[in-house]
Amino acid sequence: METVILTGGTGLIGRYLSKKLKEKGYNVALLSRKSNTDRGFPVYSWDPDKNMIDPEAISKADYIIHLAGAGIADKRWTRKRRELISDSRIKTCELLFNKVQESDTKLKAFISASGIGYYGAVTSDKVFTEKDHPSGDVIGEICRQWEQSADRFEKHGIRTVKIRTGIVLTEKGGALARMTPVIKMGIGSALGSGRQYIPWIHIEDLCNIYIKAIGDSSLTGAYNAVAPEHKTNKEFIRTLAKVLEKPFFFPAVPSFAIKILFGKMSGILLSGSRISAGKIISAGYNFEFPDLKNALKNLFPKR
Ligand SMILES: NC(=O)c1ccc[n+]([C@@H]2O[C@H](COP(=O)([O-])OP(=O)(O)OC[C@H]3O[C@@H](n4cnc5c(N)ncnc54)[C@H](OP(=O)(O)O)[C@@H]3O)[C@@H](O)[C@H]2O)c1
Repeated sequence: METVILTGGTGLIGRYLSKKLKEKGYNVALLSRKSNTDRGFPVYSWDPDKNMIDPEAISKADYIIHLAGAGIADKRWTRKRRELISDSRIKTCELLFNKVQESDTKLKAFISASGIGYYGAVTSDKVFTEKDHPSGDVIGEICRQWEQSADRFEKHGIRTVKIRTGIVLTEKGGALARMTPVIKMGIGSALGSGRQYIPWIHIEDLCNIYIKAIGDSSLTGAYNAVAPEHKTNKEFIRTLAKVLEKPFFFPAVPSFAIKILFGKMSGILLSGSRISAGKIISAGYNFEFPDLKNALKNLFPKR
């Protein structure tokens, strides 16, 4: 049995992905900063601040999936917070690389999360593909460096896949869990112009893409993990309200209010790029939830 080690496996994506990997017949173990996670999987400890990883985790790994990172939208972006967002992805990736290098492990592939923030938040009809350059904004720069640190594995002959993830839809947390209470109160409305795109993906599809990245050795480099159907913020909120059988209000929440509430982070709420799913589809991935309405109906079934 092949073993997959997940960093950040205690998080929103990691919890779902670890269960799915187990169902597919992989041995799964987590690399966590907390020893007592009680997730039903063996947990190895690491302490990125002290450059420490339990060597057993590295020696057992056939694959590493790197999901760890401090929440991007959890708090206002002070300088300290931006450093934490960056270090918790990039320095941890470098630590993993150094420890794999020092060991005798024959890693079959390194799969790293990345974000569609790589392209920047640009409200236009341009559809960004993996061939586009990274944006120079805060998140674009973090994603560029994050992917560059993952590329060290590739340069050392280890197949490397970078999953440029859109907004992950699950009722269990993340962006959707923040939006739904407002909609359920019957006061849902778009943000700012409402014309910004929300590149989204159902968690089931995202995890299937990770599993494909492990099992399909033809996958290498960066792949956008977003559904093929493009929705603007206004269309997204309207669809969500419809599925939840709640009203959809206009006028939208004005941009200045979002700027006051979220500071620099408001950029990722008020602007949003259109992202192509073409490359992963060409690689043979079939989306289970290609359209938003059915994705949301699956997450919020009628009682
Ligand atoms: N969810 C989304 O919509 C989305 C979209 C695009 C990209 N992504 C990316 O996908 C990855 C996983 O996302 P997620 O939503 O599952 O994240 P999450 O729920 O916030 O979990 C991330 C995990 O990272 C670890 N972590 C947190 N702060 C850390 C720090 N300062 N240093 C080292 N590790 C830290 C934690 O694991 P331990 O406490 O066990 O160490 C945590 O469980 C992230 O890198 C995220 O940027 C997510």
